[in-house]
Amino acid sequence: MMNGPSFFFLAMILIKQSHGVSSELTSSHQPIVALAGDDVILPCQLQPAVSVSSETLLWTRPGLDLKYIHVHRAGRPMLMNQNRSYYNRTALFVDQLMNGNVSLKLFRVKLSDAGRYTCIIDSKKMEASVQLIVGKSDS
Ligand SMILES: *[C@@H]1O[C@H](CO)[C@@H](O)[C@H](O)[C@H]1NC(C)=O
Ligand SMILES: *[C@@H]1O[C@H](CO)[C@@H](O)[C@H](O)[C@H]1NC(C)=O
Ligand SMILES: *[C@@H]1O[C@H](CO)[C@@H](O)[C@H](O)[C@H]1NC(C)=O
Repeated sequence: MMNGPSFFFLAMILIKQSHGVSSELTSSHQPIVALAGDDVILPCQLQPAVSVSSETLLWTRPGLDLKYIHVHRAGRPMLMNQNRSYYNRTALFVDQLMNGNVSLKLFRVKLSDAGRYTCIIDSKKMEASVQLIVGKSDS
């Protein structure tokens, strides 16, 4: 027979597993490096990989007055609240959202894009951030 405390311990493990407590959003600890004019991917991945297609997904640059770089809501990108400097230069990989992949493609990188970016799953209050370093191109 199981005594009281070990039964309690087992029950705690089962509760933890069924609630998926270890779910987390990850990006890159290494900075992402690009040259001005390049396109670049800023990684962001939900673990375990469950669909985020119907979530409100935000990419921001904390510290800017208008910090929203990309806003994805109700299955589509939203221009409202987007910093003008990023207009027509951002995209999520829409076919990857079902795999929990929230990575951002940033087109035609500018020197002023350098800095820290944060991806957010709004309803889960989860976020991860990554540093972008931009070098001058030789040409
Ligand atoms: C938009 O982002 C740029 C950096 O790319 C920043 O200099 C500018 O202040 C931001 N705009 C606003 C309204 O915050
Ligand atoms: C958006 O970017 C594409 C290139 O990726 C360009 O051909 C198009 O003219 C741009 N549209 C606007 C409104 O700036
Ligand atoms: C997310 O999707 C992009 C584009 O397909 C890919 O480059 C990247 O490796 C994916 N991330 C993960 C963690 O699979």
